[in-house]
Amino acid sequence: MEMKISPSLLAADFSRLSQETAAIEAAGADMLHLDVMDGHFVPNISFGMPVIASLRKCCRLFFDVHIMISQPQRYLEDLAKAGADLITFHVEAEGDPGETIDAIHRLGLKAGISLRPGTPAEAVFPWLDRVDLVLVMTVEPGFGGQKFRGEMMPKVTAIRREADRLGRSDLMVQVDGGVARDTIALCAEAGADCFVAGSAIFGKADYEAEISALRQLAGQAAGI
Ligand code: DX5
Ligand code: ZN
Repeated sequence: MEMKISPSLLAADFSRLSQETAAIEAAGADMLHLDVMDGHFVPNISFGMPVIASLRKCCRLFFDVHIMISQPQRYLEDLAKAGADLITFHVEAEGDPGETIDAIHRLGLKAGISLRPGTPAEAVFPWLDRVDLVLVMTVEPGFGGQKFRGEMMPKVTAIRREADRLGRSDLMVQVDGGVARDTIALCAEAGADCFVAGSAIFGKADYEAEISALRQLAGQAAGI
């Protein structure tokens, strides 16, 4: 299993977004994590379609878009037009998750489903055969720079186990929130293969060194 690092743009310098994305691409990121918030599903607002569309023109990375919005289905088409490659919505949001997954796939994109810390792993089991990615939040969504919640690891393991049981060993299991050098091994041991990191990468001077170190620590922990 390949260990993928998805730096979260939320921790970048917003006055220099094109330089930041260019630097993260050159540093060997596997994808770029873009957090879109609506001020309703979470108590914060980040950036939206115009920013994603502008970055699409100058960045070739796979756009991993995490939407923390109450009505995901309203914005899927606009996100696709802006340049999303994968859209991860929350199982707790409005609308039937199956319909949201189908709508994302109809737009030709990959679909992910995410759960907040208080939501049990079983809440996403009905959709594991249809999604491309499950995002287990390791902090309460809404803000970067929070403390990693290790008690989420059994959820990662339960989801990986259920995916394997369904013959979905290709399913990406992503973790997001407080992922850093001292926490990434726990996530990889638990069964994650895709790691979002904001402050652990953008908060540092050498993006390439951080990405390589994170990927290596994850690989070691997963035994590859
Ligand atoms: C939080 C976002 C995260 C955030 C992670 O709601 O989903 O992607 O940027 O930031 P760090 O890695 O700093 O915890
Ligand atoms: Zn995120």
